[in-house]
Amino acid sequence: MTSRNSNSECFVYITLPGQVNATTAGKFVLTQNVRGDALGRFVYGRSYLDTKDAFEIDPVELKLSTRTYETARLSGVFGALRDAGPDYWGRRVIEKHAGKPQLGELDYLLESPDDRAGAISFGLNNVPPAPLRKFNKTLDLEKLQGLADALIRDDIPNDPDAPQVQDLMLLGTSMGGARPKVVIQDDDALWLAKFNRSDDRWNNTRVEHAMLRLARECGITTAESRIVTVGGKDVLLIRRFDREKTPKGYARARMVSGLTILRTDDSATARTRWSYVILVEEIRRIVPEPKKDAAELFRRMCFNALISNIDDHPRNHALIARAKDWKLSPAFDLTPSPVVSEERRDLAMDCGDMGRYANAKNILSQHSRFLLEKDEAERIVTEMRSQVGSSWYNTVRSCGVSEKDADMISRAFAYPGFTL
Ligand SMILES: Nc1ncnc2c1ncn2[C@@H]1O[C@H](COP(=O)(O)OP(=O)(O)O)[C@@H](O)[C@H]1O
Ligand SMILES: [Mg+2]
Repeated sequence: MTSRNSNSECFVYITLPGQVNATTAGKFVLTQNVRGDALGRFVYGRSYLDTKDAFEIDPVELKLSTRTYETARLSGVFGALRDAGPDYWGRRVIEKHAGKPQLGELDYLLESPDDRAGAISFGLNNVPPAPLRKFNKTLDLEKLQGLADALIRDDIPNDPDAPQVQDLMLLGTSMGGARPKVVIQDDDALWLAKFNRSDDRWNNTRVEHAMLRLARECGITTAESRIVTVGGKDVLLIRRFDREKTPKGYARARMVSGLTILRTDDSATARTRWSYVILVEEIRRIVPEPKKDAAELFRRMCFNALISNIDDHPRNHALIARAKDWKLSPAFDLTPSPVVSEERRDLAMDCGDMGRYANAKNILSQHSRFLLEKDEAERIVTEMRSQVGSSWYNTVRSCGVSEKDADMISRAFAYPGFTL
């Protein structure tokens, strides 16, 4: 990694629908306002705006226009750019590799590999580089798992020349999230590989795989997944829904997270906007088929309540656009949590008149915002409750979750407070 000073500007590239090479979309500059707070500016390039079939990189904050956009939120990084950058796990890899505890916001974008979610990328030249053709292979997973374990144990020397530190960038991924992960390719597709951690209380990879299946059984569209076992350890492979392998390379879909759609972030004050009810209103304004996406989001909210997924924060929801139009991405990162309380559990986002309460009455209270009639919404909740209650056990066991692990997570499903 180069040891340059913190960067203050970069070009933003986009891979447009039907293409595998990037085009320069605009320029991002990070400065400070008069009070010394970070201020980000983004402007679309003139030639990009003149390009036939040029698309917005973000349907909320950065619509196609000649204006200069400014933001002081998120340390000056626009939501769509933040979504394309590394999060806890990717930042950890980059910091370890750079031998620095913290880097400038723009450096995280520039130093991370171009396997990021969505269709945008970053660089210092006004002409984008050729797309990356080499990715880790399924065959490399055992070595990658070993490196991830070493990083979690903090067992990697602080010496930039040590071979393990050089290897770390193989792990490097710009994909968000906190759990250890890498991106790999096989003959058909690009996959997100998620590893277990030795301090996990149960086999997370198999449980997450099972939750995706259970969600499909409840009528939800989810990412496709499978388990591979390497060196005796299970790894969850989730097919990337924002990449499609073509004979010329990877086509990319644009992607923005729920955080960006809600114009919010992870800070305590911003959490007042963490809400399914606000999210559905925003999504209805963006997508061409609001009834479809609103009903789908309703099902996901209900499912999260039924599996006590209290990690359903806005970063675990996204919109994608494979061509012009945006729609909800397939569901991902569904994790049950066997919370102790039998009466009241709270989701990460508001889901009705009673706030975050994971409860049927609460979920139904705002049915019309999800463009559902009352009886239709009630039918969905009743059917999903009985589906989760009756089939969670068989589903997790058929996905290879052990009897012991099934027992540990059993309290998560259709908890009594849901129907209080
Ligand atoms: N199948 C997928 N295709 C494309 N992007 C994905 C997929 N699954 C997850 N992502 C992106 O990767 C990020 C991290 O994945 P996630 O499963 O949420 O990991 P974590 O458990 O660490 O939060 C997500 O926030 C989302 O942006
Ligand atoms: Mg996540």
